[in-house]
Amino acid sequence: MMKVFLICRGMRLKHPEDARRVPPVFSHLCVSFVLAVQGAFARGVVADYRSRSGKFCVRIFKKCEGAETMGKEQWAAVDRYFAGMLIPPDPALDAALQANAAAGLPPIDVAPNQGKLLHLLARMLGARTILEIGTLGGYSTIWLARALPPDGRLITLEVDPKHAEVARANIARAGLSEIVEVRLGKALDSLSQLVAEGHGPFDIVFIDADKPNNPEYFKWALQLTRRGSLIIVDNVVRSGAVADDANPDPGVQGVRRLNELLAAEPRVSATAIQTVGVKGYDGFIIALVTDDQ
Ligand code: SAH
Ligand code: DHB
Ligand code: MG
Repeated sequence: MMKVFLICRGMRLKHPEDARRVPPVFSHLCVSFVLAVQGAFARGVVADYRSRSGKFCVRIFKKCEGAETMGKEQWAAVDRYFAGMLIPPDPALDAALQANAAAGLPPIDVAPNQGKLLHLLARMLGARTILEIGTLGGYSTIWLARALPPDGRLITLEVDPKHAEVARANIARAGLSEIVEVRLGKALDSLSQLVAEGHGPFDIVFIDADKPNNPEYFKWALQLTRRGSLIIVDNVVRSGAVADDANPDPGVQGVRRLNELLAAEPRVSATAIQTVGVKGYDGFIIALVTDDQ
């Protein structure tokens, strides 16, 4: 039996796939609502009802959450396998994750294999200075800072005093307090301070804070880098939501606006990579700065 109910228009559905038109059987209903068909939900398909250029249409979305949940266990198992092979247990990194959990920080640190990728990129580049936007408990900070020479410098920006405090302790335990500075405050304020203080150019900027501000962070990053620097942006896929141009999530809009800036910016050459693993389905952008300012 097919039961019809209404949900407010503007509620967006994840994972748009298979967009196609079906007959406007529900065209007598008000267009300010999205119409969803319960039977379609049960089959893993969601119908999104709206008016397009004056004509009613229904877009069908294949619902991917089930598939993603099933895949997630396998992705996590493969991540654990590779990490077990390639990333030996590390007292400072392990203790940082434990301290984060004990302090109630959200478990949104980079995955170990992503942390090691950041570390290897920094080493490949021979990085001496790194700027991180979004510290949390300093897990990614430790991975990055360990790639630096003894006289290297990493500045990491964090708005939450509790996160900053936990991070400072984790960084101290890792023996990195001499080369790492945790700057407390809104990243946008700290970034303008860094410029005013004459910091930069940084060899790497890792952007991993509040996603709606990604476009602004990228503009600052460009100002604080040089030809040959890398700008890396975490969490740019968000389970595929990034490909939905109508997704109203400010984080998704932030990533899409960032991509517009990247596309229009002659001073960078960028790519984006989708990832699956212990953190689900996400991805990152890497941009090489190809010109001095
Ligand atoms: N890079 C970390 C994870 C960072 S999570 C790691 O992989 O280990 C994102 C962090 O950004 C959170 O700690 C959050 O408090 C911080 N944040 C959010 N908005 C911010 C802002 N406006 N300025 C600075 N930090 C911010
Ligand atoms: C979120 C933030 C992150 O930096 C991340 O890696 C995963 C999730 C978040 O804000 O939800
Ligand atoms: Mg992140």
